[in-house]
Amino acid sequence: MNDPQKPTWYILGPGAIGSLWASYFRLSNFHVVLVTQSARDSNTIFLDDGYTQHAVDIEQITLAQLVESKQPIHNLLVTTKAQHTISALKLIKPCVTEDATLLVIQNGMATKDIQSLLPKVQLTVGITTDGAYRTDSCSVVHAGKGVTTIGNYKNTAISDELLAQLPNNYLHIEPCDNIELRQWKKLTINCLINGLTVIYDCKNGDLLGIPRAMEEMNALSIEITQLYQALNFNLQDFENPYQQALRTITTTANNYSSMYQDIHQHRKTEIDYINGYLVEKGRQLNSPCPENSRIVKAVKALEAAFQDNE
Ligand SMILES: NC(=O)c1ccc[n+]([C@@H]2O[C@H](COP(=O)([O-])OP(=O)(O)OC[C@H]3O[C@@H](n4cnc5c(N)ncnc54)[C@H](OP(=O)(O)O)[C@@H]3O)[C@@H](O)[C@H]2O)c1
Repeated sequence: MNDPQKPTWYILGPGAIGSLWASYFRLSNFHVVLVTQSARDSNTIFLDDGYTQHAVDIEQITLAQLVESKQPIHNLLVTTKAQHTISALKLIKPCVTEDATLLVIQNGMATKDIQSLLPKVQLTVGITTDGAYRTDSCSVVHAGKGVTTIGNYKNTAISDELLAQLPNNYLHIEPCDNIELRQWKKLTINCLINGLTVIYDCKNGDLLGIPRAMEEMNALSIEITQLYQALNFNLQDFENPYQQALRTITTTANNYSSMYQDIHQHRKTEIDYINGYLVEKGRQLNSPCPENSRIVKAVKALEAAFQDNE
């Protein structure tokens, strides 16, 4: 049942993370509208939270119907992959009200482009360690319970009002006053691990047994630290990237990175917003990033190979 005191959340990109949040919003009695690329057969999402199977009824609208209807969006959760975000937001921009709240939960650094496209909205960024995957377009498994850290892009404090409008009863959501630093830390780890798991076609932990991969990881770490110096970052805010990546691949040894999964499902990866983002920053600052550039080229070559075969 919808609680009329609670706002309506539109969800753009109802994949694994979007379906998870949509289900928990509905279980918390929020009104939710899924914005889909094409019409789906069912209005139900089946959520497996590790203990219980929930069948959650959720309203849906296609991108085309939404644009046609011109319905105003005051609260928008964006969970598309970074490379699809701007094109999708451009389509629905006329519906997004100037004072809208936009919560973007994704990897990679698309945030600046989003704020440029929608300069007046309150942009909040979410970084999550939750793990979710879809078993079909209507079924999602909450495979790993983590934390979603949220912070305003302008680094202002998260209001209690916004926190109260999120599904806190089901998800561990923590406010953070410096989300940009958190984004850089997450980006660093993704840059050191994801591309290498694609190149060496392996699980995170398998990298430990591949000396060449570990040398490349160390070279990436050195290069990224140099870039941080060029960016005038306070290096004391960052742990040594190589040591941090070592810890991550040890604790997530059995996981396949999202980039590995994208390549194996013949989907475009978020590489332009991960290593590609650093390469571009390095170019702007005259601090070249050849190691990151090599990773970008290798991943793009694999993307091109499956595109050519389809
Ligand atoms: N899954 C995780 O465990 C996890 C954990 C941490 C961070 N993340 C990050 O969270 C973000 C979302 O990941 P995810 O795993 O949920 O991805 P996903 O399952 O691939 O979901 C992406 C959604 O975006 C939709 N989409 C694709 N292109 C679109 C377009 N042009 N216009 C509108 N919608 C479009 C897809 O539509 P279809 O439904 O038609 O495919 C899908 O619903 C990523 O940045 C990822 O790196 C994910």
